[in-house]
Amino acid sequence: MAATDSLYRFPLIKIKGIPLMCHIADNWNSVWAFRPDPLDLLIATYPKAGTTWVQEIVDLLLHNGDAEVARRAPTHHRIPFLEIHSPPPIPSGLSFIEKMDPPRVIKTHLPFQLVPEGFWENKCKVIYVARNAKDSVVSYFHFDQMNQTQPEPGPWDGYLHKFMNGELPWGSWYDHVKRYWLEREKRNILYLFYEDLKENPHREVKRIMQYLDLSLSDDVISHIVRLTSFNTMKENPMANYSCIPDQIFDRSISNFMRKGLVGDWTNHFSPAQNQLFDEDYKKQMKDVNIPFRTNI
Ligand code: A3P
Repeated sequence: MAATDSLYRFPLIKIKGIPLMCHIADNWNSVWAFRPDPLDLLIATYPKAGTTWVQEIVDLLLHNGDAEVARRAPTHHRIPFLEIHSPPPIPSGLSFIEKMDPPRVIKTHLPFQLVPEGFWENKCKVIYVARNAKDSVVSYFHFDQMNQTQPEPGPWDGYLHKFMNGELPWGSWYDHVKRYWLEREKRNILYLFYEDLKENPHREVKRIMQYLDLSLSDDVISHIVRLTSFNTMKENPMANYSCIPDQIFDRSISNFMRKGLVGDWTNHFSPAQNQLFDEDYKKQMKDVNIPFRTNI
């Protein structure tokens, strides 16, 4: 069908130096002009940091752990993706947002400097989720292979270099995680780590609850932890992106809910790639001390 034929492997166009898929770049003015409500909540991540996981946790927290309410619609309908734009008939993120009454929860992968300024002017709450670089690039590699709208990833070694050079969609992982880290206190951003969520989900879900000024019992928190475990979300059609057609997510290549682990990078990095990556990482991250963990 023509509509899906045109969905394949969008080229990248830079907006203020950041490579974005062409349909996002072509519609950039409407994203940049978006004015959130002061009560809107933003969940910001570099791709593959555990966005969907935290979206599910937040939705459940906001609905007192009610699994039925959280199953009212797929993730991207409940928590729209601010900048996403595909050719018609696929609805844009903004078209979902505009149909919802505030307060809304909104997802973005935009780096700090591309987040519409209204979020900062209105002092919106922002949850940032970061995942260590090595597991992020492995997860992104599998995602780019299966998601037919993302640029062709090519072989692993070249992909790793593109990641180090900030050439993948949404740009440099290093700049992304650093800028939100440096802004977190001034902007009251809750900065979370995927690895902490894996290690102690109960503690981290409670942190999110407190940031949202909610007060739920420990039993409800435990219930939310169970509902948002990797295995439970993998089987939940409203949280596992099974609604995305196979022409877009080619599940013969990989699943969206792939492994959900810390340390899978050890199955992909050769010793030489690991050494090169570590040397480059030291240079790119020398100006900050963000406590990333590549194993737990
Ligand atoms: P893997 O590819 O390493 O499995 P995002 O939602 O930002 O695109 O991130 C997707 C990554 O988060 C995938 O990582 C996915 O499996 C993982 N993920 C999704 N839900 C999870 C959960 N409940 N627990 C742990 N990891 C989860």
